[in-house]
Amino acid sequence: MRTPFLLVTRSCKAIHRLQQSAFVSPVSALYRHQTISVLSNSSTVSCKDDRSYYITTPIFYVNASPHLGHLYSAVIADCLHRYKLLQGFNSKFATGTDEHGLKIQQAAEAAGKDPLTFCTDVSERFKHLFNRCNISYTDYIRTTEQRHHQAVKHFWSVLWNKGLIYKGSYEGWYSTQDESFLTALQVGDAVDSSGNEIKVSLESGHKVEWMKEENYMFRLSAFRSQLLDWLKGNPLAIQPELFYQVVLKWLQEDLPDLSVSRQRSRLQWGIPVPGDAEQTIYVWLDALVNYLTVAGYPDKHNQWWNVAHHIVGKDILKFHAVYWPAFLLGAGLPLPQTIYVHSHWTVGGKKMSKSLGNVVDPLERSKQFTTDGMRYFLLRQGVPDSDSDYTDDKAFKLLNAELADSLGGLLNRCTAPALNPAQVYTAFCPQSFPSEQGGRAVGEDYHMLEAVKNLPAVVEQHYESMHVYKALEAISACVRQTNGFVQRHAPWKLERSDITDQRWLDTIIHVSLECLRMYGTLLQPVVPEISDKLLSRLGVQPDERGLAGVNFLPKIRGMDCPFEGRVLGSDTGVLFTRLENLDIDKQNPKKTKKAKK
Ligand code: MSP
Repeated sequence: MRTPFLLVTRSCKAIHRLQQSAFVSPVSALYRHQTISVLSNSSTVSCKDDRSYYITTPIFYVNASPHLGHLYSAVIADCLHRYKLLQGFNSKFATGTDEHGLKIQQAAEAAGKDPLTFCTDVSERFKHLFNRCNISYTDYIRTTEQRHHQAVKHFWSVLWNKGLIYKGSYEGWYSTQDESFLTALQVGDAVDSSGNEIKVSLESGHKVEWMKEENYMFRLSAFRSQLLDWLKGNPLAIQPELFYQVVLKWLQEDLPDLSVSRQRSRLQWGIPVPGDAEQTIYVWLDALVNYLTVAGYPDKHNQWWNVAHHIVGKDILKFHAVYWPAFLLGAGLPLPQTIYVHSHWTVGGKKMSKSLGNVVDPLERSKQFTTDGMRYFLLRQGVPDSDSDYTDDKAFKLLNAELADSLGGLLNRCTAPALNPAQVYTAFCPQSFPSEQGGRAVGEDYHMLEAVKNLPAVVEQHYESMHVYKALEAISACVRQTNGFVQRHAPWKLERSDITDQRWLDTIIHVSLECLRMYGTLLQPVVPEISDKLLSRLGVQPDERGLAGVNFLPKIRGMDCPFEGRVLGSDTGVLFTRLENLDIDKQNPKKTKKAKK
């Protein structure tokens, strides 16, 4: 086995050499990225053999408190990060706050606070929410930090030195809410709440204003064909495919140069353009560089930057899939490996907004539904390809059905002293449940085993493509099958004094515990607290919870099961307390003490 190892080592060295070359023109940077993809795909172990992974959320605007949609972006990223850790990767996970720009400047003014104090207050609210919801970020970046200012200034200078930024003037529409420039085709007519006729962005509905300024412009137009080449050579670079197609379409249209600064007289709250104190760097250029700052840029950053993955909402796709790759190509840096795009949460079919009064407070809901309940609901019901409508009732019903009744009920049954008086991981009897039919197990039982055996691969595929809801759907279907298995054989009716009945009973419990061990292991990225409780109850130690050695039901293949005969972990109460009364407005939700049996 020496040769493949050497080959892989050489490939990775070659990749690192490519990544470290001092000057790379935009074109060679593109090909370098493609070479990396090709090399990575061509070896079985690939460059992933350094086992590094880097995942980011968008950084959140601090003009208002966090809402459910923000938490959703963070929970998806957290799930992928935890999943990579379980796979044995060294994963870095960055989130944080986007604190510059006109919108923040105005919000601070309206709050009567100096901008930094204002930003610190709101940034702390995001941090508090994320800590409360077990978002296990490894770096929390704020764009007002010194390390970030340095990275942005350096990045700007690289683009400037390559002649990719020039002084020009911008005349056109600008949306402060979106911090975005728009063409005439992207703007429509509307009437504001006071009855005045206004112009709005057709995409976001936010008000736009005509602006005319001397700015610095980035030569975005020069990158159109390289961006197209990148996408054509990397069909999985933007997922799901629907959004990949959207970006391809954008790139087939005209791609004008982009204004990347604002006059300091209008925007003071931002990073000054190096060498020109009269201009402030455009907030999106500033914000996007946060991903590099966390990777260590401008110092050593390759370890993380070569394995970068972004989670973004569909509203900020153009910034991430067009502007950002163009900036990176310009700066001679590799492009992100994947941009995962998710759709939005609506309430009553409408986008959440303060003015509509339909904003869902994620902190309040996570107290009501528990942190894991909230995470489970968002990931089980959130579909990346299309918007999902939030209702409390949906969350309430789903959590009771899948976490309390189905999963919690299964654990109760298998660990109840009535069926398992010795409180052990019971023994498997191969005569009762032979590898092929002939014992007491029936055809449906074998189907269930097949489904559970395949579950890690199915779940892996869905986690990898950010279709977490499909992974949870598959797990939930297996949990139902296992409950069906127990129900079908009604172990409580077996005659304990009969040795063959007792062995069959133990086997039913053993198989069910093995299924539960799989579910607990695979659910860790989504519901870490529930999974921990479940696996601890089964007596599965922390170092036995990785994906590599999950090995379902080895006894049926005549292999040893390390869990068989072990004493179960202590009973620390029901897995998920059934939510009885849905009364969101009350501070203390009423819950029953016991899960429904
Ligand atoms: N600051 C920029 C991102 C800069 S990244 C370099 C920004 N911030 S945001 O606070 O407005 O949005 C952050 C994330 O929250 C985005 O991914 C956005 O799509 C997501 N959501 C905001 N509202 C949402 C919903 N209603 N539903 C789901 N996610 C939504 O954009």
